[in-house]
Amino acid sequence: MKSAPEDQYTAEPFVPAGAPDLDALRRAAAGCRGCPLYRDATQTVFGAGGADARVMLVGEQPGDREDREGRPFVGPAGKLLDRALAEAGIDPGEAYVTNAVKHFLFTRAEPRKRRIHKAPSLRETSACGPWLAAELALVGPELIVVLGATAGKALLGSSFRVGEVRGTVLEREIHGHPERLVPTVHPSSVLRADDREEAYAGLVADLKVAARVLA
Ligand code: URA
Ligand code: SF4
Repeated sequence: MKSAPEDQYTAEPFVPAGAPDLDALRRAAAGCRGCPLYRDATQTVFGAGGADARVMLVGEQPGDREDREGRPFVGPAGKLLDRALAEAGIDPGEAYVTNAVKHFLFTRAEPRKRRIHKAPSLRETSACGPWLAAELALVGPELIVVLGATAGKALLGSSFRVGEVRGTVLEREIHGHPERLVPTVHPSSVLRADDREEAYAGLVADLKVAARVLA
């Protein structure tokens, strides 16, 4: 099969029509070939959580652990996120967690060496956008927590800058539906920060803003 030109990558033809449930979406996403990322990754990592979740957390893309296990935020960034959520007063078990891009994107410094995470570009986030839109339509969360720049650009457009809006409540129309969003940094950036304690406290403070919206 000839590959689609880069600007035509899209998950759209793989998203089932009508309003199926999350399991049907997840099964369909497992076979997505909307962009080339499926080729090197182990599996599609779809969102996890109930359709009745009040809050949806949107990350960037699965990491190495997520790619192997098939579930979002099960690696180090996810552990840190769960701890921060609990500290802010949001039960991680009651949230719906997903990513802007559903396949792991990586490079290798050398063949057979460790896989190094590579940030997805606009090309991949827009290709994968129909899955996020379908999840949003089915879950209909009261609040979206935007974890970092990739999720922010996927939901709010390419002018999104996390530093300008983190810890504030935004009201925006997304796919024709009014949504409330609280952006914050990506939990991986806390793991990379020079001052991890300060970065972690900042994440918790932003998540407390989200907790107040849900209270
Ligand atoms: N980082 C993300 O953005 N998502 C995951 O699922 C794991 C790490
Ligand atoms: Fe489909 Fe998204 Fe995976 Fe690309 S990254 S193949 S659009 S699920």
